[in-house]
Amino acid sequence: MSQQPEIIRGMQGVVFTISNVSAINGQEGKLVYRGIPIEELAEHSTFEEVSFLLMEGRLPRKEELEAFNRMLKAHRALPGEVVDVLKKLPSNTHPMDALRTGVSALAGFDPDLGDPIEGMALMGKDEEARKAYWEKGKRMGIRMIAAFPTLVGAWEQIRNGKQPVEPRDDLSHAGHFLHSMLGTVPSDTATRVMDVALILHAAHGMNASTFTGIVIASTASDMYSAITGAIGALKGPLHGGANQQVLRQLREIQEMGGVSKIQEWLDNLLSQKGRVMGFGHRVYKAYDPRARILKRWAGELAKEQEKELYEIAVKLEEINIQKLGQKGIFPNVDFYSGLVYGALGIPVDQFTPIFAVARVSGWVADILEYWKDNRLIRPRAYYGDQVWDRPYTPVEERG
Ligand code: CMC
Repeated sequence: MSQQPEIIRGMQGVVFTISNVSAINGQEGKLVYRGIPIEELAEHSTFEEVSFLLMEGRLPRKEELEAFNRMLKAHRALPGEVVDVLKKLPSNTHPMDALRTGVSALAGFDPDLGDPIEGMALMGKDEEARKAYWEKGKRMGIRMIAAFPTLVGAWEQIRNGKQPVEPRDDLSHAGHFLHSMLGTVPSDTATRVMDVALILHAAHGMNASTFTGIVIASTASDMYSAITGAIGALKGPLHGGANQQVLRQLREIQEMGGVSKIQEWLDNLLSQKGRVMGFGHRVYKAYDPRARILKRWAGELAKEQEKELYEIAVKLEEINIQKLGQKGIFPNVDFYSGLVYGALGIPVDQFTPIFAVARVSGWVADILEYWKDNRLIRPRAYYGDQVWDRPYTPVEERG
């Protein structure tokens, strides 16, 4: 009989690798990408520049950034066959499922997707072959970063019975995303807000979807398989799916009567062990710095519309921090992102795909980093039953 080892539920606190892509200081509420504070990046950078930073480990020089932007623009368009795949989906398919399907379908059109055995180059002594496989992975990653906004936008058009919007190359990545999604060229303010949101969501230390992507990549599989799996992990309401639930809760309070009903709504929710979506985090035990930035933008946009929802959010935050703050539960990035996206006219079920459009950069960067010293991830589970000789019962004899 073997001794049960200590089980670390949810792998909380387990450190399995070294990563320099992004890091969180949960006690002090700090987030850095390659050492640069998120506040600096949100203020001065662009999503394109941040993607380069995450992958390459440094900010691009001017000509490098221009070349990177050209590359992203060159890969915006989708193969017609992939659009056809999306058109075959039932129109009630959740946008995250459509995105996962679209990304998976894209794989076959990528000239770098070779035979699976090529991945073994990651494990061999041939440095040239290893580098070549790594470079292929990077090119595939960049193509996915470029195509994600087009895919998400294409599904929005298709499910509404329209044709996907032709990508324009005079728009930034954020502008292109809004254009694909809404079908109109966005204002400078809308483009900037989306750019900031994409920057804030691009990477976030080790998290469920990044880990999923790395687990798949660690088998020496390809970048498309890894990213497709990561999308599946991001979809869950405990991870990227929380943002769409936040708006649902705020609207619930609004329908009950607004700010004056928050306390009653909250008491009711907590008495049933429910959770305030957009609150709490496995790592942050302080205010999420991304939430602070999005709160400011939500406030700016609320001057024009959805003012009441913003007021409900601010009051709910205040009351909830009084109640849960001492447990280290504060607003996370999702608490205000939904208000921002709602104000931009984006449908609620497209909020999680926005997260994916941003996070694909972090996924690619983390996988490329892991591939520099790849090792198959293969943990173990403890066999609780410890039965090794249960007899096989023929089907006729089973009770
Ligand atoms: N509302 C109310 N209570 C909460 C919340 C919340 N949002 N989050 C945690 N708690 C309580 C929980 O009930 C538990 O209480 P008790 O000890 O009395 O049983 C305690 O805090 C610890 O909770 P936990 O689930 O063990 O903590 P965790 O580290 O697994 O939680 C979390 C992390 C994000 C899953 C959780 O805070 C949660 O469910 N939040 C709501 C969903 C959400 O907003 N998710 C987005 C995360 S940020 C975006 C991203 O990175 O993907």
